[in-house]
Amino acid sequence: MGSMLPRPLHVTFVCSGNICRSPMGHVILQRMVAEAGLHDHVLVTSSGTGDWHVGEHADPRTVAVLAQHGYDGSRHRAREFDPDEFADLDLVLASDEGHVRVLQRLARTPHNRAKIHLVREFDPEAVAAGTLETADPWYGDEAHFLRCFTEVEAACRGILDHIRGQIETDHA
Ligand code: 4NP
Repeated sequence: MGSMLPRPLHVTFVCSGNICRSPMGHVILQRMVAEAGLHDHVLVTSSGTGDWHVGEHADPRTVAVLAQHGYDGSRHRAREFDPDEFADLDLVLASDEGHVRVLQRLARTPHNRAKIHLVREFDPEAVAAGTLETADPWYGDEAHFLRCFTEVEAACRGILDHIRGQIETDHA
């Protein structure tokens, strides 16, 4: 993995508020990327389709469940998805079908639309079960946040494998 890509692969997670689901993906994948030695090759970001929480920390329940599993979510600040970014994005990971619809409208071109996937498409068990959405834990309790974390972490393993494949393809 020592050779160079022309630019880092840009992977972004999208949910509604960018305080629960997408920050989990962001923090988890970022650490997996670092541990895989791919830090220079992959840029991980996240944002929300809504602007309600822009500039805020992740939800305290998000930070707590991440901390319980050894991840630091304390530095997260919420952002709103910027459609002008689409051209620079490689993989746009939506939490649920509502985000897919919003993103498909904002993408405007087939090339950009092809970048959009549900996060859990990268978890073979979720694909087999046909449960591809990550449920919004915002109105839930700690158990909902734990379930969300477990789903997102499983998907991130598949996302990391996918990223590795992309980087190797680009090098071939
Ligand atoms: P998230 O959860 O999209 O996973 O960050 C939500 C956070 C806030 C709201 C909705 C969902 N809200 O309506 O403010």
